[in-house]
Amino acid sequence: MTIIKLLEQRTSTRAFLDKPVSESLIKSIFTMAQQSPSNCNVQPWQACVVSGKKKDELKDSLMTAVMSGTPPNPDFNWTAKYEGIHRERQFGSANALYSSIGVTREDKQGRQLAMVRNWSFFDAPHAVFFTMDKYLDIMGAVDLGIYAQSIALLFTEHGISSCMQGALGQFPDPVKNALNLPEQRGILFGMSFGYADNNAVVNKTRTERESIENAVTFFN
Ligand SMILES: Cc1cc2nc3c(=O)[nH]c(=O)nc-3n(C[C@H](O)[C@H](O)[C@H](O)COP(=O)(O)O)c2cc1C
Repeated sequence: MTIIKLLEQRTSTRAFLDKPVSESLIKSIFTMAQQSPSNCNVQPWQACVVSGKKKDELKDSLMTAVMSGTPPNPDFNWTAKYEGIHRERQFGSANALYSSIGVTREDKQGRQLAMVRNWSFFDAPHAVFFTMDKYLDIMGAVDLGIYAQSIALLFTEHGISSCMQGALGQFPDPVKNALNLPEQRGILFGMSFGYADNNAVVNKTRTERESIENAVTFFN
């Protein structure tokens, strides 16, 4: 598949079939993703893939944390509030998602329920947590973003769907406990993945992109 086809086909998937991806395919995709570039080739990513019983246990502890009203305490700074055009686009993507599942603007509970599904991994059979040493901060975050996109596109090439999730970095404590991660390690974000449930309306969500005029300036 060409890169443009992969870019067009990858869309965030939020409902999955109860069908695991074979361990050998997952391993080969993560092996290929090692080709991702990084600043000074430091390759800061430490990816943690959870499946099976471990994923189910982690889902339970994350859901318990979320439902008990524990405030988010991410390892990295996710506090910027979107402004202006960014805020408009944020609303645009939320509206695309909620209208696909028939949740109205006024339906606060419906929105919350949809949000909470992040921490049950949207019922995906697998999730990956993108972690790195905390001190790396923005330098490492750039590399992890590039790495995550490599994985998402490789998944698409192999018929596997995914959703990147900042939500999976919001409650790091249950994740660190379950995966026995050292104190200096931070969880930047995560991604649920598996085979898409193509009958699920949520997977019909489509988002828009800005025209090139408002995104790129060419200088001569
Ligand atoms: C870093 C990052 C964090 C994201 N966090 C979430 C999230 O927590 N929950 C979610 O449902 N989608 C999340 N998304 C998906 C975006 O909403 C989605 O990529 C965007 O609306 C564009 O839609 P598309 O992926 O279908 O093209 C995230 C995407 C990225 C790149």
